Amino acid sequence: MTSHSDPVSTISDNPYIPIMAEIQSIDALTARESLFKVLLPEPLKHRPGQFVMAGLPGIGECAISISSGPQSGKLLEMVIRKAGNVTGVLHQLEPSDVISIRGPFGSGFYLEDFKQKNIVIIAGGLGLVPLRSLITPIMDHKSDYGLVQLIIGSRTPKEALFRHQIQQWKKLPDVHIIELVDDTDFQDWDGDIGLVTEPVQQLTIDEQNTLLVLCGPPVMYKFVLLEFKLHFTIPDNQIFVDLERRMRCGLGKCGHCQINHVYCCKEGPVFRYSQLNDLPEALS
Ligand SMILES: Cc1cc2nc3c(=O)[nH]c(=O)nc-3n(C[C@H](O)[C@H](O)[C@H](O)COP(=O)(O)OP(=O)(O)OC[C@H]3O[C@@H](n4cnc5c(N)ncnc54)[C@H](O)[C@@H]3O)c2cc1C
Ligand code: FES
Repeated sequence: MTSHSDPVSTISDNPYIPIMAEIQSIDALTARESLFKVLLPEPLKHRPGQFVMAGLPGIGECAISISSGPQSGKLLEMVIRKAGNVTGVLHQLEPSDVISIRGPFGSGFYLEDFKQKNIVIIAGGLGLVPLRSLITPIMDHKSDYGLVQLIIGSRTPKEALFRHQIQQWKKLPDVHIIELVDDTDFQDWDGDIGLVTEPVQQLTIDEQNTLLVLCGPPVMYKFVLLEFKLHFTIPDNQIFVDLERRMRCGLGKCGHCQINHVYCCKEGPVFRYSQLNDLPEALS
């Protein structure tokens, strides 16, 4: 498998200085999350799984995953949850308002590693947001990849994201998607009910040719990995985890995202599980 060490290449020449980008649309996806489409002055040239620092001058900025695929050109898609100070103000904005963007930052996924492989992607909650930047290019060029199996979990139907797009993905050959909710909360739901760990044993796994990708709430990683390892043996370097830590600079300078000697913003947020063997804190 290839090893990669690309230098930081950000949209502005100085990675500390943001560019200003115009909001094209803001669409509510759930009560707390909205899809922001933002027009950049030039293409972001990101890899799937990378993130930007998005914000407003005088307010602040926060790490937000890039949800659009690498072919999206000047259009950047982000799903922003109204969580606190910065995201609260971003949610008050309207189309044609401008926001600041720095990045793209972080390791991300290298699509060439995934070509001709069977791929299992397990997403919990907002974990689908960064993984959509990986899933979209895979689905757009499905014949370049093997069997793709997705397990997508949400707490309730109201919180399930991108359902229309998921229905389109389901129509592609050699794609198998299981959508689950923890609880229907008395709403209509045509998927399964349960935790994302439950369908793991039904997966079709060719142990030498399968890559596993996980992103979700911290508690999910431990239980999914336990369940996966109970039924299948795939090497740790074929497992990718997408981790979140508090971030400020995005550049490996401030130490906010540090786990021991590892800077999550620079070496992550996407790690191979084999990179985390001496970092048990990373998944706790
Ligand atoms: C690599 C990365 C990608 C991210 N992608 C997205 C995304 O696509 N969409 C999105 O909505 N959010 C994303 N986040 C989370 C987002 O950056 C934080 O929620 C951010 O702090 C919100 O800023 P705020 O000023 O609105 O909230 P704050 O006022 O800073 O905090 C709001 C609440 O969230 C808690 N909090 C802050 N940061 C984190 C964190 N990293 N983990 C757990 N709790 C936290 C605070 O303790 C507080 O309770 C991502 C974070 C990282 C590190
Ligand atoms: S966010 Fe500053 S070192 Fe990672």
